[in-house]
Amino acid sequence: PKKLLVLTGGGDCPGLNAVIRGVAKRARKEKDWEVYGSVEAFNGVFSEPKELIKLTSKVTAGIHVKGGTILKTTNKGNPLNYPAVQPDGTVLMSDRSDDLVKRLKDLKFDAIVNIGGDGSQKISKALYDKGLPIIGVPKTIDNDLAATDFTFGFQTAVQIATDSFDKLVTTAESHHRVMIMEVMGRDAGWIALHTAIAGGAEICLIPEIPYDVRKLVRRLNLRYKKGRGFANIVVAEGAKPKEGTVTSRAGEKGSEHVRLGGVAYQLSQQLKDAGCKAEIRETVLGHVQRGGTPVAFDRVLATLFGVRAFELVLANDFGKMVSYRNNAITAVSLEEATSSQQLVDKDSYLVQAAKGLNISFGD
Ligand code: F6P
Repeated sequence: PKKLLVLTGGGDCPGLNAVIRGVAKRARKEKDWEVYGSVEAFNGVFSEPKELIKLTSKVTAGIHVKGGTILKTTNKGNPLNYPAVQPDGTVLMSDRSDDLVKRLKDLKFDAIVNIGGDGSQKISKALYDKGLPIIGVPKTIDNDLAATDFTFGFQTAVQIATDSFDKLVTTAESHHRVMIMEVMGRDAGWIALHTAIAGGAEICLIPEIPYDVRKLVRRLNLRYKKGRGFANIVVAEGAKPKEGTVTSRAGEKGSEHVRLGGVAYQLSQQLKDAGCKAEIRETVLGHVQRGGTPVAFDRVLATLFGVRAFELVLANDFGKMVSYRNNAITAVSLEEATSSQQLVDKDSYLVQAAKGLNISFGD
């Protein structure tokens, strides 16, 4: 039989298991294919003994409902920059991609399906250029890959954030408080923006639109003056103030930025410093946004990505990444897949519509 290897790399994301199952189920329909999973991205191939799991129907049955990845994942398994602990405890990084390609050939793999985000697809591209028959499947809850309209995991993250937002509204209202909720999104504000619209936030702060904290305070004060004695803010972890608009070091470029969880507290301090009189409370959702069962849309998208990835393997159409564009499951070259990020455009309809709903971006 022919052999296919599947792996998951980078941060986890609801829907990874649905992709794995989609690939394996579709492959099972062709009698001459066996599907294996490498544990912890490519580490399963590097480790001795190797950690490769045969993805039988028993292994993949029902896994599409589960969050996380049955294959485990890591941010520390890049074959182009692979860590090796030396006898004296220091870590030496080296390019082990040629070694990896040789190992996969020795193991007689006919195709690889690499499920991962931007970083993982750059690795896919480099390995494809070295002759590896590889297909990429995009993954990120941040939805910031340009080559696909949506990534699986995003809708789940937005749903989790919206459910939390709704809960914060009732407590904000009861206490006349300003509630700040920080969501994920290092570079892109998609989760924040969708949550702000779904939840009905007063303020939405995203990395793409630097905010002026004085404008935010004016907005909050006006709202309190009108008698609406509470407000809800959604802030993406990568949001930052306009240069020169805050007096404290918090949030400034070069200041000590705690990546997750820092922004909500920084913003709270900035609002107080700029004269916000209301009581403020902060909530950081963190990795809860990446956990648990994927919503139906993400399960469907992830499963179709898996099926399509295997169909590309069957067609010998390597060097591609599956993608969802214009309501169709399609494929783009790995070259195109890794060439640009999809950020929120401040002039987009989505932002303009949000402003039309009186959501302030502080710009
Ligand atoms: O890339 C996805 C993401 O959700 C980012 O928004 C966030 O900064 C990051 O993951 C955090 O992940 P980890 O803690 O696993 O590095």
